[in-house]
Amino acid sequence: MKSKSQITSLFLKKISKIKKHNDSYFNKDRPVISDKDYDNLKREIIELQNKYKFLKEQKFLENLVGSPPTNKFKKVKHLRPMLSLSNAFDKNDMIDFIKKIKNFLNLKNEIIEFFCEPKIDGISATLIYENGLLIKGLSRGDGITGEDILENLKTISGIPKKLNGENIPKLLEIRSEIFISKKDFNNLKQDFANPRNAAGGSLRQKDPKETSKIPLKYFAYGFGAIEPMNFLKQSEFLSKISSWGFSVNPLSKITIGIDEIEKKHSELDNLRSSLDYDIDGLVFKVNDLNLQKRLGFTSSSPRWAIAYKFSAEKAQTKIKDIIIQVGRTGAITPVAKVEPVTVGGVVVSNATLHNEDEIQRKDVRVGDTILIQRAGDVIPQVLSVDISKRDRKSKKFVFPNKCLCGSLTKKEINKSTKKEDAVRRCMKGYECKFIAKEKLKHIVSKEAFNIDGLGKKVVDQFWNLKFIREPSDIFKLDYPKIEKLEGWGKLSLENLKNAITRSKIISLEKFIFSIGIRHIGQENAKILAAFFISIDEFCKLFTVKKRHTILKNLVELDGIGETQVESIDNFFSNNKNVQITENLVEQLNISNFSIQNKKGKFSNKKIMFTGGFKNMSRSEAKSIAENNGGKVLGSISKKLDYLVVGDSKPTKSKIEKAKQLNIKIILEKDWNKILNS
Ligand code: IVH
Repeated sequence: MKSKSQITSLFLKKISKIKKHNDSYFNKDRPVISDKDYDNLKREIIELQNKYKFLKEQKFLENLVGSPPTNKFKKVKHLRPMLSLSNAFDKNDMIDFIKKIKNFLNLKNEIIEFFCEPKIDGISATLIYENGLLIKGLSRGDGITGEDILENLKTISGIPKKLNGENIPKLLEIRSEIFISKKDFNNLKQDFANPRNAAGGSLRQKDPKETSKIPLKYFAYGFGAIEPMNFLKQSEFLSKISSWGFSVNPLSKITIGIDEIEKKHSELDNLRSSLDYDIDGLVFKVNDLNLQKRLGFTSSSPRWAIAYKFSAEKAQTKIKDIIIQVGRTGAITPVAKVEPVTVGGVVVSNATLHNEDEIQRKDVRVGDTILIQRAGDVIPQVLSVDISKRDRKSKKFVFPNKCLCGSLTKKEINKSTKKEDAVRRCMKGYECKFIAKEKLKHIVSKEAFNIDGLGKKVVDQFWNLKFIREPSDIFKLDYPKIEKLEGWGKLSLENLKNAITRSKIISLEKFIFSIGIRHIGQENAKILAAFFISIDEFCKLFTVKKRHTILKNLVELDGIGETQVESIDNFFSNNKNVQITENLVEQLNISNFSIQNKKGKFSNKKIMFTGGFKNMSRSEAKSIAENNGGKVLGSISKKLDYLVVGDSKPTKSKIEKAKQLNIKIILEKDWNKILNS
C-alpha cells in the first residue's frame, strides 16, 4: 500500500509529464508520443484522481489544459480570412472607435447605428452551405487556412445540415462561436481548465464520436462569403438566419450613441454571471452592411467592429522580487515575480509593472501585497499596492539604469510631444544578447516567418545551446544535434525541418516586418514593400549614400513619417544590422511585392492622391483603390498611372510634376463618376 505522499509524488510526476506533452503538441506543434500513449497517460491521471480524493485538492490540475493529441486535420484555405477584433477597454476607447469610423467615412453629424452582440468566449468555426446543404466546416486556424472539422461540427445538434426557408443564398458562409455551457462544463471539470478549453478539446477530437460526448452549443454571429448578397443590415442578417434554423444570441440589440453603448455594456456585465455561457465583452458592429463594406479591414481586424471587453478578473498576491526584462526594441520592462495565484482559471506568477514611472507612481516594493489583473491573453498587470499591509522595513525599489547586458539605458525624447519617454531603453541592437534573443523570437512568430515548432521556448533552448545567434542561423541548424536533445524525436524534427524550409519563401512585406526595425509594423512594412517592390531595391538601404537619397523619397510616402524614416536610418547605420540582414537575405527566396491579383476598376494601376474629398476620407479613397486592384503610391514618378486630385487643398507642385510626366490627372468629380460607374 502506497503512502499519501508516494501517491501524490507519482501523481505529480504524471502531471508534469502530460504538461510537457501538452506543450510539445499545442505550443510547439511537435508531438513526441503517440496518441495512444498520451490517452493512456491521461486516463491514468484521471483514474488516480478519482481513486484518491485528496488529489482533487491539488491546484495544478487547473493547469492541465489541452486535449488529447489527434492526427492533424486537413488544412483548407478560407474563402475569406477569419480575422480577429481589436479591443476597447473603456468609454474613451469607444469614443475613439466611433471617431475613427466617422473620419474614415468623412461623416460629421450623421448618426451611426451599431449592432451590439455578446462576445462569446468559445472557439470560432465557419460553416459553408452550398444550395442550403452544409458542405464544409472549418476551424479558424491561422485565419487564412483552417482545419477541416466538419464531421465534428456535424455532431452539434443545433447546427443545421440542411437549410429550410426562402431566398437561401447559393453560397452561404456562417461564422459562429462554439461553446460549452457552464452547467455542462461542471460535469467534466476535471479534464479541462475552463469551458473554452473544453470546447476546443472537444472540437479537436479525431473521432467525432468523442466530440458528440461533450455537449457543444453555438451562436452564429456573422458571415464570410455569400452569393448572392442580399442583406442590408447585420440585424436583418441575424434575424433572417435565425429563421433558417441557426442559433443566434437573444441578447443582441441595436444601440445608438455612446450613452446607450455604456448602458448596454454595464447591463450585460451585471448579467454576465447569471448566463449559462462565458462572455468576455460585447462586440459592437456598424449595423449598415454598406458602411461595413466601405470601412473594410486593416491587416488584422475589421474597421467596422470592436470588442468592448468587460473589466478583467483580479486577485491579491505578494511580490517576491522585481526583475527587469529586455524587449526586442530594447525597452526595459520591470516584472513583478509574485506568489502564484489563480486569476480566471490560470495560475499567475509574473505580472508586468510597465515601466519605471509606473513603479515610482505606485511606489511598488518587493514584499508588497498587491492587486493584479488578468484580461484575456494580455500579460497580467499590477494594479495597486495595499500600503496597509506593507512591512515597515521595506525599501523603495531603485530602478537599474543599466540593461541586463551592462550597457547604459536611455529615455528618449518623443518627437511629437517633445516629452521624455516613460520607457527606458537599451540602445544596442544585436550587440545586446538579450535584445538579440527577443528579435529571434519575433522573427519566428506567426506574423513574421511563422515557423511552426519553433516557438519562444525552443528559441530559448536553441539560444542557450548556442545553436542560433542571428536569424540566418535558423536556416543552418544542425538537425542531427537537435535530434539528440531531450524532447525531440524523428517526427518533431521532420516537422521543424519542413516548417523552416517552407518559411524560406517569403514576401517582401513580411520580410521587412520580420527584421524588426523599430516603428515598422505590418502596415508600414506593406507601404515600404510597395515602394521598393524587390529585395534588391530594398538592399540599397545598406549603403549610406544610396540610403540617404532613398530616405528623402520615403518621407513623401503616405503613412511613413519622420519617426519611421529616422528609425530606418538608425537601423541600417548599424553595421551589425546590415551584416545580419545580408546574411538572412542570402538564405531566403524573397518574392517581389505584388498586388494580390485583385481584379477591378484599377487593376494593376498605380495611383496617387492629393487634396481632400467631399464624400470620403483619404483613407477610404486609398482602400477603395486597393480593393479594386490598384496600388497606391506615395510619391510621383514615371511609374504612376493616375494622380487623383481632391477639391480641397491639393498640392500644386504635385499636379505640376504629374503634368510634366504626362500622368493622367483625375479630378474629384471624375473620381466619383468612376466609382459609381
Ligand atoms: S465578429 C472579423 N461577433 O471573437 C472578426 N466575433 O476576436 C469578426 N466572437 O474570432 C468577429 N462572439 O470567434 C464576432 N458576436 C461576435 C463574437 C465574436 C465571439 C469571437 C470570434 C472571433 C473573435 C474575435
